[in-house]
Amino acid sequence: MTLFMNRILSSDTTTKIGQEVLLKGWVNARRNMGKIVFLDLRDRSGIIQLVGVPSQMDAASVESLKDVRPEWVIEVVGTVQERGEKQKNPEMQTGMVEVLIKSLAVLNKAETPPFEIDKDTKVINEELRLKYRYLDLRSERMQKNIRLRDKIISFFRNYLHAVDFVEIETPIITKVTVDSGAREFLVPSRVHPGQFYSLPQSPQQFKQLSMVAGFERYFQIARCFRDEDQRGDRQPEFTQLDLEMSFVEREDVLWIIEDMLIKMVQTTTPEKRIQAVPFPRLSYAEAMEKYGTDKPDLREDKNDPNLLAFCWVVDFPFFEKTDAGGWTFTHNPFSRPKPEHMPWLMKKEHIGEILTSQYDIVLNGYEAGGGSIRNHEPEALRAVLEIIGLSEEQIKSQFGHMLEAFTFGAPPHGGIAPGIDRIVMLLAGEPNIREVIAFPKTGDAKDLMMGAPSVLPPKALEEAHIALDKKYDHGA
Ligand code: AMO
Repeated sequence: MTLFMNRILSSDTTTKIGQEVLLKGWVNARRNMGKIVFLDLRDRSGIIQLVGVPSQMDAASVESLKDVRPEWVIEVVGTVQERGEKQKNPEMQTGMVEVLIKSLAVLNKAETPPFEIDKDTKVINEELRLKYRYLDLRSERMQKNIRLRDKIISFFRNYLHAVDFVEIETPIITKVTVDSGAREFLVPSRVHPGQFYSLPQSPQQFKQLSMVAGFERYFQIARCFRDEDQRGDRQPEFTQLDLEMSFVEREDVLWIIEDMLIKMVQTTTPEKRIQAVPFPRLSYAEAMEKYGTDKPDLREDKNDPNLLAFCWVVDFPFFEKTDAGGWTFTHNPFSRPKPEHMPWLMKKEHIGEILTSQYDIVLNGYEAGGGSIRNHEPEALRAVLEIIGLSEEQIKSQFGHMLEAFTFGAPPHGGIAPGIDRIVMLLAGEPNIREVIAFPKTGDAKDLMMGAPSVLPPKALEEAHIALDKKYDHGA
């Protein structure tokens, strides 16, 4: 029956009163009213009410109509008609019309789903939702969240391309960096027994090397991996809008990000109001003193779901004391100090007082992104690495390639990486980032749908040259 007709979407029915149409989708709900059956049909555009009156249908369709239940996949040919006055539903996009079924065919059956999809799944046990994520994602709210994410990412891409940025893909399997803040996921090499790659915590080094390579304006919708404890705003893999620019100072980066974020909100979620433009700026010291946190929630009305309070936090200390009495960096070892503290860095004086060029963008109490101007001279990067106590050997093996690259004419550069998951979470009004990631992990870093992580058979371990500690040997 599909040969002579093109499928239309449920949202298109409103302009087709009196016409015969072909629709395909899932049964969202079924209501029996004596002999008449009402079906809500769901497709990617929304929901349309179908009316099944047996006397108006052929015999095979009448039989099919008897069987269909929620989540069955069907195709229907029918006539669009205006609903009776009492049946009109202004809450629904297609609430003025319905489709009187002429013929109905089942494209696939469905088991009864483990939870109801036509209602908000927020109240359902989350482990169950994650195990059956493909069903959870069928729900209206999750469809909206994932589509909003796509809109936001497309906006960023278009904005940055329009101002001459180039999107560059950087490696996912790369070099282990031992002394980083967060733990890295390791990947054993099969070809080089006993050696490892790691998954990048961020493309930091590659984006700086892209500046050395002369691209001047880089960005990437970048997947990052961190093997750290989970929270509502943290996942072991997450996405940054990673960017870097050459020949810029702090003000240039802050300006472009502020302009981009304001326009992104206006375009993707026009119902939101940004509390203050330009974004207020606080020093780290001020933020700590006034709000007791470096990610203050500046909203005047915390109950207003449409209020967005951005602010910049700047002037963080570069170094802090370690428990062992040495120094470590607070944010990013590649950062440059504030210009006036450059001499202290080079002389390794007043270490605790050196302020970094680091800037964080904070939104409604969440750290939505962070970046800095970088040290582009090898001596300056080396000074940071020496202050944090790396030996000559460690500097060479972990950062030698960066120090060397900087000897070949590295331009002054800086950048930032807004966290896309957190931004989408806040614009979608969701309480955690799992609600805006299509296939997230649980709080203990498991993928319940795929069953990851999992035990490997001995042969696979052997090929990867891995011998397990006896206590983890599952004998699989
Ligand atoms: P940073 O480590 O501050 O900076 O990360 C930047 C932003 O990424 C987001 N983010 C996360 N989102 C979800 N889950 C996580 N586990 C997670 N960790 C971080 C946050 C954070 O603000 N290379 C530097 C950036 C730069 O200097 O340009 C970096 O990665 O929103």
